[in-house]
Amino acid sequence: MTAREKPAHGGQRRWVAETYGRDERSWLDFSANLNPLGPPKAVRAALAAGLGQIVFYPDLEAKAATLAVAGYLKVAPDHILLTSGGMEAIYLAVRALQPAAALIAEPAFMGYREACAAAQVPAEGFTGRLEELLRRELEPRQMVLVGQPGNPTGQLEDPQVLMALLERLAAQGGNLLLDEAFIDFLPEPEAYSLRHAAGRPGLLVTGSLTKFFTLPGLRVGYALGPPPLLDALRRLKTPWSVSTLAQIAAAAAVQDAEFIAASRRLLPIARLELATALRKLGLFEVQEGQANYLLLDAAPSGLTAAQWAEGAARRGIMLRDASGFPGLTRYHLRVAVRRADENERLVAVLREIGEDRSLRQEDREV
Ligand SMILES: Cc1ncc(COP(=O)(O)O)c(C=O)c1O
Repeated sequence: MTAREKPAHGGQRRWVAETYGRDERSWLDFSANLNPLGPPKAVRAALAAGLGQIVFYPDLEAKAATLAVAGYLKVAPDHILLTSGGMEAIYLAVRALQPAAALIAEPAFMGYREACAAAQVPAEGFTGRLEELLRRELEPRQMVLVGQPGNPTGQLEDPQVLMALLERLAAQGGNLLLDEAFIDFLPEPEAYSLRHAAGRPGLLVTGSLTKFFTLPGLRVGYALGPPPLLDALRRLKTPWSVSTLAQIAAAAAVQDAEFIAASRRLLPIARLELATALRKLGLFEVQEGQANYLLLDAAPSGLTAAQWAEGAARRGIMLRDASGFPGLTRYHLRVAVRRADENERLVAVLREIGEDRSLRQEDREV
């Protein structure tokens, strides 16, 4: 990636700092969908206490962290493999399963296509309702990748439809890869998660501690599936890919019940307030979804997503230009839900950009 080329993922602080000449620490980041309340207090204390352990190799099996995360997810410890972020789980899953072809429920997280490309698996997008796939002829050994909830829409799929799809795929030697990276933000994740079905042939669930527990820099995620399938992932995984500090943080994070409850109580309220304030601006169609982010269609404003992202960046705010997501338009943006004071600043800045005549001038000059 050259210095000016736009990164494929959100949260790229060094890139915006270099591009816009502002201190890396001064940015307000609405481009990465991270819990603004985290990380849990217990994590900082555990990391401080565990720092001395960096002189040793990490536990190869990440036993304490695996047991803690398995307990949090209520899955059997032999049905979970901890990975270096959810992304490693997705990459390993596609490589280990080597499907004949992949079908991605889009618009979706770019990482699915990247993982397929890395594993040389042909991938295509699918933009209809998932139910439609049940009526379609499925190819043998096909993999379907679905986000639950989807990124960038925040949309949830009906677990019964997912299970029916799994049955159809498994009957043909195929797989369902269900990415639950954002499911912890739901008030009741169990109602929509397929983690309880981990172990069923053909199902691989991936997840992440990055988003909900605000640990993007540590890299902890997981894959859930039948033990022989997890063994196949393990054989491809680099040993020690989950560092000692990542293991320590993971074990502490999932046991912080107070943090978990407060986040699930407060963030849906913040999302509703932000969505309401954004609608009031009259500049965007707001798609709220069930996650900690909103998908905005800026067509009513007359400004493109690139113009909104540029205008915000000049004011120290990172937005996700979502126009590159297959199935979306050049007017689509994604914004994370943050703390009330930060959301208010976002709304004020967006109002200012909407009134910025120079942007409209630039548009005419293009
Ligand atoms: C839907 C989705 N899944 C998975 C990931 C990967 O998360 P991580 O590797 O940081 O755990 C992301 C990151 O943006 C994501 O948006």
